Amino acid sequence: MGNILDKFKEVQEEKKEIDTSKKLRVGIIGTGWIAEPHATSYMKMPDVEIVGLADLIPGKAEAFAARLGISGVKFYGSHKEMLDDESLNLDAVSVCTYNCQHEPCTTYALKKGVNVMLEKPMCVTMEEAIAICKAEKESGKIVSVGFQPRFDENMKMLKRIVESGELGQIYYIQTGGGRRRGIPTPFGTTFIEKETGGIGALGDIGCYSLDMVMNAIGYPKPLTVTGYKSDFFGKRPDYYPGHPEYAEKFGVDDFAAGFIRLEGGIVIDFRIAWAMNIDTPGDTVILGTKGGLRIPSTECWNGSIGGPMTIYHEVAGDQVETKIPVRSTNGSVFEMKIRSFLDAIKSGAPAPVPTSQILYNQAILSGIATSAELGHEIEIQIPEI
Ligand SMILES: NC(=O)c1ccc[n+]([C@@H]2O[C@H](COP(=O)([O-])OP(=O)(O)OC[C@H]3O[C@@H](n4cnc5c(N)ncnc54)[C@H](O)[C@@H]3O)[C@@H](O)[C@H]2O)c1
Repeated sequence: MGNILDKFKEVQEEKKEIDTSKKLRVGIIGTGWIAEPHATSYMKMPDVEIVGLADLIPGKAEAFAARLGISGVKFYGSHKEMLDDESLNLDAVSVCTYNCQHEPCTTYALKKGVNVMLEKPMCVTMEEAIAICKAEKESGKIVSVGFQPRFDENMKMLKRIVESGELGQIYYIQTGGGRRRGIPTPFGTTFIEKETGGIGALGDIGCYSLDMVMNAIGYPKPLTVTGYKSDFFGKRPDYYPGHPEYAEKFGVDDFAAGFIRLEGGIVIDFRIAWAMNIDTPGDTVILGTKGGLRIPSTECWNGSIGGPMTIYHEVAGDQVETKIPVRSTNGSVFEMKIRSFLDAIKSGAPAPVPTSQILYNQAILSGIATSAELGHEIEIQIPEI
């Protein structure tokens, strides 16, 4: 018998030459924390020129440019101001705003004929997600959603394991993760206020756990969901030393759980936390008729897995375990997410992380929130777009 790991051998991708004869003109909407890796990634691309920066806070975009050494760029006080400036001739924008501004910025850009690199989570509500998908379809442009873990070698391996058939028919998935203490407030309260963040741990890191498993199994359609969410830590003034007033501002979830039925008879048991009284709510587990897979849990933000994956299966009647060594990824996954978006624009290929998939991710997140508010299971309604 050959080495079982041979079944999952990757196909080495050839390094492509980048055509620099035409530079793509890129703008960044929102110049907060995540805008920085967007800008520094674009600055490394020989076929990109950053031409516009927009932020609602006066002087923030200017300070951002000065800090990163971005010159020859125009500054704007909102996404609309930038997208209305036709002299800018934008090919693409990165939407790096807080969650509640994802939809207005994205749909406005698409209406102006501009491709969008949209940060995760896609948005807050299902209505917003549908609006984005419709605007994308009408525009003929692309939206790629910012899930850089997709480019991590371990995540690719996970997908290959499922696709190899080694696990048989998948029927149950347990996923999620989170932090013992980790409500994200180092740069203020945009993640925890209802008007800016919109959803808490559920959207912020829950979207990653769901993308990891949903991408591996080919994004089947979600059918029903029952959800729970709570805010016991976020609402505690003593949680924020030096900033007890943040407790008053906390308007989202710091813990969420859900049970989701998917097309094809698969169920997902999900839980996610920004704060909880345990180190981890458990590893990700994928159960199939021929094998099971354990993926050690992480805090769900850095885009990789928490240790070697293990396949539990039978070989010639024996129950055996196969450890899958952790792989290193050659290069920055963040730069890969940006490069793949640019390549798709240039070649006319579909978006690398398409809204047709992430609509289902958003349907689960929004479904958990809605079900939690209603106090019972709901059916997930997804219109044809
Ligand atoms: N992919 C990742 O690894 C990753 C990591 C962190 C955050 N994020 C996501 O990135 C987004 C932003 O996070 P952040 O930490 O940078 O937030 P932030 O609050 O630090 O920055 C957001 C900025 O957007 C600006 N803004 C909001 N609406 C605007 C508009 N209409 N026009 C112009 N500017 C506008 C705000 O003034 C603010 O400066 C969030 O959705 C978050 O989930 C992704």
